[in-house]
Amino acid sequence: MRVIIIGAGVAGLSIGWRLLQAGAEVVVLERAQPGHGATWASAGMIAVTGENGDAETPDAQFARYSGLLWPAFAAEIEAASGRKIAFRTDGALMTASNEAAAASFAVRAAASGGKVKFLSSAEAREFEPLLAPDIMGALYDPSEAQVDNRALGAALAAAFVRAGGELLANETVVRFRIAEDRVTGAVSPFATYHGDAFILAAGAWTTRIDALPPDAMPPVVPVKGEMIALAPPNADALPKRIVWGNEVYLVPRHDQLFVGATLSREGFDTSTTDGAANWLQSHAAGVMPALSEWEIAEHWAGLRPGSPDNLPILGETALKGLFVASGQFRNGILFAPAIAEALSSLVLGRAPPYSIAAFDPNRFRDQALLAKAGATG
Ligand code: GLY
Repeated sequence: MRVIIIGAGVAGLSIGWRLLQAGAEVVVLERAQPGHGATWASAGMIAVTGENGDAETPDAQFARYSGLLWPAFAAEIEAASGRKIAFRTDGALMTASNEAAAASFAVRAAASGGKVKFLSSAEAREFEPLLAPDIMGALYDPSEAQVDNRALGAALAAAFVRAGGELLANETVVRFRIAEDRVTGAVSPFATYHGDAFILAAGAWTTRIDALPPDAMPPVVPVKGEMIALAPPNADALPKRIVWGNEVYLVPRHDQLFVGATLSREGFDTSTTDGAANWLQSHAAGVMPALSEWEIAEHWAGLRPGSPDNLPILGETALKGLFVASGQFRNGILFAPAIAEALSSLVLGRAPPYSIAAFDPNRFRDQALLAKAGATG
């Protein structure tokens, strides 16, 4: 079987790698450089609790499942690529800024069977001495993890190529060839790539392809996120764990502290703004006052792939042979191993080990057809 994947981010490369391992021939076509979209711009958090709390929604359950796959996935990527990706399970603190939040964390901790722990203000500050004295307590999840997302993109690309995959950068797919109700080719300005199956894993750029009928077009929208990296006055000053609070998260990464992230829907604009940098640093300083003095060493923006219901969009579209892996929104890195497992299974005609029925791309089909009827009627 020959599979053409559009997008060399964490999703496209992971799915492609799994398909190669299962014996498929795989070509990945990337509009820019591998691992340089949302994969590069993210904070690399594997934040099952930080992003999803104790929700029982399908995406929260999927996040928990994928989080469990991450340690083995990380070890396998390092072994296959010969590169380090700095996967760390140092845990995370979710800080409470008022008594009600602290009380609700205490209840959650008590109901968690020891999985998460409630820390008083003093205990939280023993864990992370930079925390503001007015923090009312924190929820500590020791299983929260992170990975160096920039190293991850490069390592996945290396693992994919070492496994025999063909990876073409600067190769933008502009449209599909469709015969009856089946995709037969992916067309770039330079070539047409034929295959038995096609996977759209182009993140926020998933919709930038002509000639897809509306009911097969995944309704993905770019959701911009700006981040900054703060440089500590000395390496010892860096927090040890991920810290959440005051609408931001703080992620220690090598010798910097990443602070994220803004959320805005502005199309494909990836410009950075002083306003966002100031907002991020001042909110970070609300959690750890010393951060107001740290220098902003880097500032960047990326585009998350959002969906109308904030759930991922995973599975076969209305067009036979065209699959999609998009709409990961805030959880692209976290979901990667579970998406790789599910999409590679589906494309090979097998049931995914973890059901992704809730993320069926066809759940938007009626709305798309109605919108088209409205536009033409
Ligand atoms: N997962 C973090 C973010 O999307 O900002």
